[in-house]
Formats: sequence, C-alpha cells, structure tokens
Amino acid sequence: MKKFILLILLCSCFSCKTEIRQSASTTVSPTRGLIAENAMVVSAREEASMIGLEIMKEGGNAFDAMMATEMALAVTFPFAGSLGGGGFMVYRKADGETGALDYREKAPLAATKNMYLDGSGNVDTKKSRFGALAVGVPGNIAGSFEAHARFGSLPVEQVLQPVIDLAKKGFVVSAKQEQSFNAYRRQMLEINNDTILFARVHRAGDTIRNLALAKTLERIVKNGRSEFYSGETAQKLVSFLQESGGIITLEDLEMYKAQWREPVTFSYKDLKIISMSPPSSGGIALAQIMKMIEPYPLQDYGHNSSKYIQVLTEAERRAYADRSQYLGDPDFVEIPTFQLTSVEYLHNRMDNFNFEKATPSSELNPGSIPGFESNETTHYSIVDSYGNAIAVTTTLNGAYGSKLYAEELGFFLNNEMDDFSAKPGVPNMFGLIGGEANAIAPQKRMLSSMTPTLVERDDHFWMSLGSPGGSTIITSVLQTILNVYEFDMTMQQAVDAPRFHHQWLPDEVLFEPAAFETSILNNLKSKGYHINEGQSRILGKVDAILRLENGSLEGGADHRGDDTAAGF
Ligand code: GLY
Repeated sequence: MKKFILLILLCSCFSCKTEIRQSASTTVSPTRGLIAENAMVVSAREEASMIGLEIMKEGGNAFDAMMATEMALAVTFPFAGSLGGGGFMVYRKADGETGALDYREKAPLAATKNMYLDGSGNVDTKKSRFGALAVGVPGNIAGSFEAHARFGSLPVEQVLQPVIDLAKKGFVVSAKQEQSFNAYRRQMLEINNDTILFARVHRAGDTIRNLALAKTLERIVKNGRSEFYSGETAQKLVSFLQESGGIITLEDLEMYKAQWREPVTFSYKDLKIISMSPPSSGGIALAQIMKMIEPYPLQDYGHNSSKYIQVLTEAERRAYADRSQYLGDPDFVEIPTFQLTSVEYLHNRMDNFNFEKATPSSELNPGSIPGFESNETTHYSIVDSYGNAIAVTTTLNGAYGSKLYAEELGFFLNNEMDDFSAKPGVPNMFGLIGGEANAIAPQKRMLSSMTPTLVERDDHFWMSLGSPGGSTIITSVLQTILNVYEFDMTMQQAVDAPRFHHQWLPDEVLFEPAAFETSILNNLKSKGYHINEGQSRILGKVDAILRLENGSLEGGADHRGDDTAAGF
C-alpha cells in the first residue's frame, strides 16, 4: 500500500504538467487530472491534444478533432502515430447513437498463408517484423476521412492546417523521445540503409521539423483521401515499398476501404460498455473478462490484493485462450461472438477456478463452442462540447513499425503483418498464439488487441478510454475501468495505478516492477502463479476522460509517457 501511495503522489507531480493547459474553464486538483467544463482531448503528446482542442474551440466536433489529433500524432509521435498505420474508433454521439469504425491495415493481394515461413517451415520473424514485407496496407487516412465525411463539420483544410504548420515549425523532442530514438537508431539505420530523419541524433529540447510530411499533408488537403490511395502519394509510396522489397501494389491501395462495424456492447453491473469488435479481439475479450469477474466481490478483496489479482488473472487466462482459437477478421471467418460472450458460457469457464491454486495454462484449452473448431500503438480520447465522445486507438504495431521510413513522404510504415498468426501455435511479438482464424490471406485484416472503449452510466456518457501495449491493452483498459468503478479512484489515479497482466500463454503474470507488495507476490507464487516482475516494462499507457457527477470532464493522462490532457 505504501508503494501505491508513493506512486499516486508521484503521479500527482506528473499531472502538474497539465497546469499549463489551464484556462478559465479548467481546473487542476491534487488528486484529479485536468478538469474542463466543455471539451477535452487526452493523447500521447501535448501538441496533438492542443491541436484537437483548438479545432473544437473553433466550433468543430469530436470527429473534426479526431482527424486533427491523429495527424498531429503522426507529426509529433512517430513511435506509433503515422499515416502508415491503421486503427479503430468507437463513438457515442450526443443522442446516444453508438458505432465503430475499422481502419485496420489489410494483407496485400500478393500475401500468402506461409509467406513468413523459411525452408524448414519455421517463422522468419525478421521478415514479419522488419522492412517492407512486414507492411500491411495502411488505413489511417481512410479512417480519418471516413469519420470526417460522415460526422465532421469543419472543412478538411481548416482541420489540417494547424497540423501542417506544426510539421513545418517542428516539435520539441522530450527526454523520453530522446531515449526512444537512441534505443531504435541502430534498427532504423539497418532497415533503411540510410540516415533517415529520425535516425539522426536528437537530444531532448531539439526541434524536429518534418517538411516531407508537411508536403504530403498539403497534397492530401488539396486532393482529399484519394491522394493517399491513388494519387501522387500512392504512387510514390508503392514505388518506395517495391524498391524496398515489399509486395504492396497500387491496386492494394486503391482497394482499401475503412469499414463501419457494430461495436461489442455489454453490461457490467450498472455500466454499459461499448468497445471494439473484430478484427480487434479487444471488445470480446473485455466482455468475457468482465462477465467472468462480475459475480466476485472485488471491493471486499481490495485493490491489487491477492484475491483480486487471482480473479482477474484467471478470467484473463481463459479469455486469451479463447482469443487464440476463435478470433480473426469477421469478413473472412465466422466468429461465435454471442456464444463467447454469453453469461452461461463464461460462468462455466470459471467453474474450475478456486482460490487455493492457479489453473495452469497447460491444463486450460480454449472453451468449446458447439459447431466451431487467436507495442506499439497510441490511444486518444476526445469529448466535445456537443456531447459526442470518441475513443480512438491506432498503431504501427512495433515501435516505429517496420522501421521502414518513407523519407520522401515523411512517415514510418507499419509491421502489422506480424499480428497475423504466421504459423499456428507460434507466438507473435506480443507472445500471442493464434490459429486458423487469424491465418494470413490476401485482403484480410490481422487480429488486433486494440480496445478503444466508451462506458455509459445511467444512460449517459461516463468514460472514454484505451491504451497501447499490444496484448496488454485489454487488461489495462479493464483495470482502469475497475479502478474508478470498484475502487473510487479519480480518472488520473486510475490510469496511474500499477497494473498486472496475464494472457494464457506464456503462463505468467506480468507485474509492473516495484509496484506490488512482496507479500502479495509471494502468496501468489505459493499458489502456483508464475510471477514476472523483471521484464521491466510498463503495462499499457492509458489515456482517458471521465464525466464527473457535475457534468465536467476529468482527464487521465498516463504518467508512463508524455501524455497530456487539454480542455476548455
Ligand atoms: N498491433 C497491436 C494490436 O493491434 O493489437
């Protein structure tokens, strides 16, 4: 508990940076994040949050702000923001209408099921993770334009001009970014055979201008969505990818479309959760876990107590086992969503759990459904003054994606192909195992864990949240909701609180280092849980907005990154 209090105090310090976003309609308290009366953006970078907010101050809505924020992240957060990636958006309009947009990358037409297997039938992870062959057909521009065309209100020129100005003026490198550039420089140089913009030495405080990206965005403003999928940008991109050994063609780009989807909607006690449907596993897995834990008195166990960790771990273990078997692109495979999320099925799944002993993953298979036989990302949440709320998670997959950088266009390309199951039973970069449902096929979307999520309480918008972190996204979103709902934390405390994670295989519970009581970890070990506290990594990086009882908004900007809330 002492460690937790220390962490919360530390977090209050981190949240101090939100003070500079204060205005007449915002306030900061020691325990809460930024509070705003009208509208808010929380994203991985201050500049992106501010640009989204400015668009809303000019009268734009959350969908205008989405395009601006997403493109501003492409400028300031090349680690995961890029025109070369893909994502998902879940929305809830002021009138209560909900929906979801899928702009996940797709496998190119020339992709084949065994394209990453070597002569001995082993997965060549260098091919699926690095360079042009790892790249899926990007969806970010299609997604931004699709959301804007259906719901946006300001002209694209107005929305994107501040982003273009930012790319020209440049952004200031943070201390965390300096570390990140240093960590990936060698790989960037190796993959690109060139000193690309982000492989040069950038120190904290330096300014990076991306004039190539500014030019690409100017052409997109002039010619619209088609500039990226069939215009000059498309042609330059395809030539670059093919020269770099890739298989994406102009036809792949021309065929790409973002898809509107029905979100996964379910109840947890008196909350209504709206989350992303396949090809993300996020919504279904979150529904499974929350339904499995619903009967347990979590408040009585206490936050991050042994029993609390056990119940969540066992539910996560079972949900991730099902993920490996049943989930994939719904345009290609039939997904038994109804059965997987039914209360009867899920309560049966927990029948063989007891508090005395961990269920070994080796003894747990995916559940049986009659008639049926699977880090780096960024999330932002936006609420506008009209009452619309969105949760958006986008990704390049790995840090800086495939590391392949289109210098002339100013962005990194994803390595999303690694999210397919290259070979059944062989883990991807997040250790996730997949099966036939997530096998590679031309035009198919790879399974994701991204979990952009909205929560309603008493029929009103209550929370918008999501996270990067590959397989750990789902469990980060889960714990953040529970932190507020079950343990009365503020939004800022909830995103900052220490997290743990289990995903069936490997059979270990990951804990954020030095954040959990040794006695609790020892107790779990004695019951057969395999504890991994040494991986020295953060679990998720949640950005969230909570609607408070008086109607104002509280931002939760995760202290684990440079994340910032901006509001008015
Ligand atoms: N690339 C991470 C995910 O989509 O889950």
